[in-house]
This record gives sequence, C-alpha cells and structure tokens, in this order.
Amino acid sequence: MNIEFSDRLKELPPYLFLEIDKAKRAAKAAGKDIIDLGIGDPDLTTPKHIIEALNTAAQDGANHHYALDAGLPELRTSIAQWFTKRFGVNLEPNGEIYPLIGSKEGLAHFPLSVVNPKDKVIISDPAYPAYPASVIFAGGKIVRVPAKANNGFLPDLAKLEKVKDARLMFVNFPNNPTAATATKEFYTDLVRIAKEKGIILVSDMAYSEIYYDNEKPLSLLEIEGAKDVTIEFHSFSKTYNMTGWRIGWACGNSQLIAALAKVKSNFDSGIFQAIQISGIKALQTDEHELNNLRSRYQERRDCLINSLRSIGWKIPPPKASFYVWAKIPKTFQNSLETAKAFLEQADIVVTPGVGFGPAGEGFIRMTLTVPQAKLIEAAERLKKVL
Ligand SMILES: Cc1ncc(COP(=O)(O)O)c(C=O)c1O
Repeated sequence: MNIEFSDRLKELPPYLFLEIDKAKRAAKAAGKDIIDLGIGDPDLTTPKHIIEALNTAAQDGANHHYALDAGLPELRTSIAQWFTKRFGVNLEPNGEIYPLIGSKEGLAHFPLSVVNPKDKVIISDPAYPAYPASVIFAGGKIVRVPAKANNGFLPDLAKLEKVKDARLMFVNFPNNPTAATATKEFYTDLVRIAKEKGIILVSDMAYSEIYYDNEKPLSLLEIEGAKDVTIEFHSFSKTYNMTGWRIGWACGNSQLIAALAKVKSNFDSGIFQAIQISGIKALQTDEHELNNLRSRYQERRDCLINSLRSIGWKIPPPKASFYVWAKIPKTFQNSLETAKAFLEQADIVVTPGVGFGPAGEGFIRMTLTVPQAKLIEAAERLKKVL
C-alpha cells in the first residue's frame, strides 16, 4: 500500500542534521574515535538519592496504577515550595502547577489548546525545534522574530511590536542554542507588549539551574502581572541529570494550565507515580550538590573557551546552559559546511546553527556534556581544520 502522510507531517521542516547524522554513524562504524559535541544530554548520571527513591517507590504496588492526570498533590506542593524558594513567586498547587512527562511533551501539546488553524505564533529565532513542530501540528502559522548577537541574542521587540494578531509567543532563557539569558528590562517590556497585544507567552526554562558566576536566571513569572498572560515550562532533565526519566512541569496562569490539562487528558495518563515520588526527592537535592554540578560545567566551559582561544578561535563564554554558541571561523561559508569539515577532518561532531532556524546560520553549537580531557583534545584536533 502506498501510504500517504498527513499534510501536517509533510509540512514539518526537512531534517537538516540528516547528512551529519549519517556521516557520524559511518565514522563510528569505521571505528573512528569521535568526540561528540552535538548531544544536549548530560554525560553525568542521576544523583544517588533520587535513584534510591525510585528503587523504593517502584517496589510499592500502590504506585503501579494509572497516575492522576494532575499528579500527586505532594509533587505539586513540592514544586510550589521550590518555586517560592528559587524565584520568590507563589504558585497555587491546585490550578497553577501541572506535572508533565518531560517539558517537551507539554511544550509540544500546549499550542493545541489555544491555537486555531492559521493563527500566528511567534518564535524567537534561532529556537529549539520542538516549537515550530508544535505550531505546525496545531495548524498555526510560524512568524520568526530574530534574536541576533548585536541584541544579546534577545528577540527584537521592535519587530515583535509590528506583528499583528499573534496568538502566542515562545521564549526560552537560558536559551538553546544561543545560551543567552534574559534581563529584567527585556522581560518587563515583553510582558507589557504581550498584554497590549493579547499575546500568550510560553516561557521555556529547561536550563534554569545551569548558570555560572551565581547569576541566577529569572523566571518570567517574577515580572509583575506576567501571570495574566504566561505559562512557563520547567524540567528535571538537566538540573538533576534525569533526561531519560521524563518529568517536568508547567506553571503560571490557571486558565492556560487548565487548557493544557484538557489536551493532555486525551493523550496521556500521567507520569509513573514512582517517578513522581523521585521528583519530590530531586527537588530536595542539597544546594551543595547543584553547586558542584554548576562548577563542573563552568570548568568545562572555561576549558573549551580557553583551549579554542589558544588556537585562535575567540568565543564569548556563555553565562548559562551547557551550550557554547560560536560564530563559524572565517574560512567557512556556512554552518553546515563547518560541521561537515569538523567531522570529516577532525572526527568532531557539532550542530550546525541553521538547524535551529534561519537566524542560526553562521553559528555552530557545541555542548559541554563531555569530560574536560575530550574538550582539550577537540581543540587540539581543530588546529588543523581552522
Ligand atoms: C530548550 C529546551 N526545552 C525543552 C527541552 C526538553 O526537555 P525535557 O527533557 O524536559 O523534555 C529541551 C531538551 O533538550 C530543550 O533544549
């Protein structure tokens, strides 16, 4: 049978990393020693106390059933307490917090609850590819607002003000791929514009706890009045090295949370309860342990930035996230060509910026999810390519 795919599936952008992925697999199969700076997944493992909590909770038959859609009340209360401590923002556990099977799941489902066919959805460009995909699935129209280097990789608010009748906007700080963080001034202006124009703000804070020099990223919900228009997505994945566990949460405006909950109740049946119990334990993680994690990434960041500087490639150090967003060396025409050359000539995998949207062209993304020795070796190998 000739299977015809749905229009929305056909509308998904071509997978730009296909060529790189193929070349990477071939190089690995040929036994080459690849240094993979393309993976946005921590190499470090989940802290022991969280694994122990799962071990215990998994033994208890009471946790083996369908979970409540809204999750354990104790999980929502723990999230509320964590949020107040971290951001000074109070959230109502019944109505303003909703657990997710990873934040990607919630981000991808949310547009289905508020976007009608042809509605405009603004995406700060470059962006995490799940946003455009979610807009396509909801039948919306993507409007990209560039976030350029000369504006600290913050989306151009003058351009945003010119967009008519947008339904919602995705923002993501600390940002993947640029590692940019938002200022209070930027967020204040953003909330003002969103309120004036009736735009729902979707804030993605998957990297909220990966920051350096004690410069803690802000929550959009810290801005006065933001809760009127904002739903914010948080994740356990990167903070506690729990990418495979699939747990996160949405919080903010109760009407937006209720809309997302309605969509989700038709797609999934909650998070395995033993994982929810582990999530409660994760939120109690000692600050000392998190500081160690941040120090580890900071050492890697400084190691990579300094090693690349020593071979003549100067890159500004990121203030947050575990990504290094680098302007491609002058010897290359574009990001895809750069990534191919790094792989073919140095056995190094990086992600071409154009895969995150047109404004990502001219940059590549490298991750700090490999040990320092590999980062030093990567710079050593790149000497001959630059
Ligand atoms: C910007 C951004 N948001 C969300 C996610 C998804 O995280 P989760 O594991 O919570 O689904 C990622 C994962 O890489 C990400 O980079």
